[in-house]
Amino acid sequence: MEKISKTCDPRSKNSIFSEIIPKEPKPTEKCLLNFSDRKKPLELDILVSEDGTRFIDVRNLFDRTGYCIYDPGFTSTAHCCSTISFIDGIKGSLQYRGFKISDLVQNCTYLEVCFLLIFGHLPSKNELKSFEDAVFREMVVHKNFIHLYDCFEKNTHPMSIMIGAFGALSAFIKDSQFLYNDSDRIATAIHVLAKMPLLAAFAFRTSRGLPLIKPKKKYSFVENFLRMMFKNQHEKWKLDTRILQTIEKILIVHAEHEQNISTCSVRIASSSISNPYACIAAGLASLWGPAHGAANEAVVSMLEEIPSKEMIPHILQKVKQNKLRLAGFGHRIYKNFDPRATIIKESAQIIADLLGNEEDKKLMQIALTLEQAVLNDSYFIEKKLYPNVDFYAGLILRTIGIPKDMYAVIFAVSRGIGWITHLIEARSSFTKIGRPRQIYVGLLNQTFKKMEDREETPVHPSLIDDQKPFTWPKFN
Ligand code: CMC
Repeated sequence: MEKISKTCDPRSKNSIFSEIIPKEPKPTEKCLLNFSDRKKPLELDILVSEDGTRFIDVRNLFDRTGYCIYDPGFTSTAHCCSTISFIDGIKGSLQYRGFKISDLVQNCTYLEVCFLLIFGHLPSKNELKSFEDAVFREMVVHKNFIHLYDCFEKNTHPMSIMIGAFGALSAFIKDSQFLYNDSDRIATAIHVLAKMPLLAAFAFRTSRGLPLIKPKKKYSFVENFLRMMFKNQHEKWKLDTRILQTIEKILIVHAEHEQNISTCSVRIASSSISNPYACIAAGLASLWGPAHGAANEAVVSMLEEIPSKEMIPHILQKVKQNKLRLAGFGHRIYKNFDPRATIIKESAQIIADLLGNEEDKKLMQIALTLEQAVLNDSYFIEKKLYPNVDFYAGLILRTIGIPKDMYAVIFAVSRGIGWITHLIEARSSFTKIGRPRQIYVGLLNQTFKKMEDREETPVHPSLIDDQKPFTWPKFN
């Protein structure tokens, strides 16, 4: 790591990142856009991605025509070029830096995959060893940082603590905000990667009122993560290798997924050249919803509420009546199957057979029956609804004994590397500040009335003081 230049523009040949900086494809085709109020059609460039998808370049549309694009949810909008991961939603394929997810899961550790994501190539033995050591060295926080955890009460949701902790981290690691050189970029990636399991374990133990535990050099990254969360003070630490391998797989399949909402939030937050750790807090906030990173938790809650397989037709009926959304089904990009779900389903079955109790096995049976019922139902076939990665991920975590409020946190620990890799890529390729437009449909040009001329209206009850006694804490 020491050999790496300290003053490198990522676009210069001397930067170790120069090969993986996205280069915008040259337009090879044009399209013509007709407007009812313009005589001449407008010629627009078409950019073609590696897989042949065509993107109409509308960057200057407003300046040239006065028209804007309306695309809520960005269903047809690319906001950047990237070299990090690739999804083929029709074929159900996912690649990190050009490597198939199935090859990575079968052959790599999570940290090996993280190295690949950051540097763009698989590490040699020595590179991996130095990388693992560098990550371990950063699994530490300033002594004052620990006081942060005193302010959270027992039973606080660990995701709330994570979001607060990452925001606070920006106060402790200030030097590398601008990511001007390779050293800063690498240091920031390693910081985020190393702090994720540490802060996740601190969040978990704080929420349970347990003392915090430090990592130990003799354990791997993933084992340290599990040990820092679950080690019982009074017992010797022992971990079933099957659990370790399964968590490693879960972390690899969740590590990166191109422009999902949390990654997109990080990229957009960072486009104001904001502090990288604060941007990670934006990613965490965005992840923490049942439509995204907390879907694994929602799946298990849903399955726990299904008393028997016989209830499934009734549940599907409710979905068709729009009264219910099936957690763990559907995806914006995958329209045939989610390749991560195939990998995770296999692990879920193995883990349920090996470690599951009666209840875990029952939930697994309900999940398999629900999946089959959905896959054979024309309503779901037409809507292209298939199980996604989170359908079986939650079941694995439940069987291993991980509490439900930690599922999204585990997703976050894994995705941290995807977020920071995207942030570095976005900074290096000088993406414009994120600033979409809106269609304004509110009132305009109202007549202003002075206070004395306004009519009296009933005050909303939530604005009325509920008279609860309140005393300020004593400040020094
Ligand atoms: N259950 C029932 N119907 C669904 C579901 C579902 N899980 N997902 C989509 N639909 C229907 C939806 O009602 C809509 O029907 P219609 O066209 O009649 O209005 C149609 O399918 C399209 O849905 P959408 O919400 O417009 O699709 P989207 O691409 O915007 O949303 C999604 C994708 C993942 C948010 C959505 O499928 C969903 O809410 N799934 C459940 C939550 C979930 O499992 N999230 C984890 C996603 S994978 C991990 C990750 O990357 O976050």
